[in-house]
Amino acid sequence: LSIGKTHRRKKRQTITDMETQKINKEELCNRDLSEQIKAVTKDSHVRAENTELMLAYQRGNISLAQYKLFLCSLHEIYQALEEALDNNSNHASVAPIYFPMELARLESLEKDLEHFYGPNWREKIVVPAATKRYAHRLRQIGKDNPEYLVSHAYTRYLGDLSGGTVLGRITQKSLGLKSGEGLLFFSFPGVSSPNRFKQLYRSRMNSIELSDEERKGVLDEAVLAFELNIQVFDDLQKMLSETEGETKSDILTKNESMSESMH
Ligand code: HEM
Repeated sequence: LSIGKTHRRKKRQTITDMETQKINKEELCNRDLSEQIKAVTKDSHVRAENTELMLAYQRGNISLAQYKLFLCSLHEIYQALEEALDNNSNHASVAPIYFPMELARLESLEKDLEHFYGPNWREKIVVPAATKRYAHRLRQIGKDNPEYLVSHAYTRYLGDLSGGTVLGRITQKSLGLKSGEGLLFFSFPGVSSPNRFKQLYRSRMNSIELSDEERKGVLDEAVLAFELNIQVFDDLQKMLSETEGETKSDILTKNESMSESMH
């Protein structure tokens, strides 16, 4: 009895060991850029989700001021990103992930900004310093390291495709907007299934040939891309609380002068 059991247990252990070894081997050998990039940005994603702006979204409670400033920053970012992608569309590391028809956001953002700021929106938009730094980095790598553009395109577009529809619905509900009004940023008419498109995008990322050094650079750049986004969200929130502070003190001054004049 005991011999049979031991034998079976041993056999089971051996299979388990073999499976574990296989998994470890797969993990070690997994050279898929899409897996590596997801793994190295995991912690950054958690930090991005916990910025005040993203928490407001998760609470389903976004203000018009927050959304307008968010659109201004997104415009600055996508203008730089899409210009860099267009300029490098034939580069070996960019061509496989170049999907302007499906992904480009700039035109949608311009229409959304016009909706909220009117025809002279270009003169009215406000861009925090962190957003300018992000756009500067995008222009710089567009010139000096086009292979790093995949890190930025991944961070923004796959993020937009993952949570975009939900964020769009929250914005619409929070601001009481009519369907589509000022919400074009969130809709991807050229992508019928975000999940299937994400799979295609990942396989295209995995087809990019990179030296070890370039791969390391791309992974580091993805962490930086998340960091730059976090700084944009924080700066935007800081700007909002300063404006709110100003408004409050304006109201206070007004009330004080009202009470002074009443006395
Ligand atoms: C993917 C949630 C903010 C970038 C995802 C996924 C979820 C999610 C559920 C799908 C995960 C999967 O398919 O395994 C959220 C929530 C956010 C948020 C709740 C805040 C309200 C952000 C931000 C960024 C971002 C701010 C970047 C700026 C990404 C990227 C992916 C992703 C790049 C694709 C990951 C991959 O499949 O490799 N997110 N996210 N997310 N998110 Fe977010």
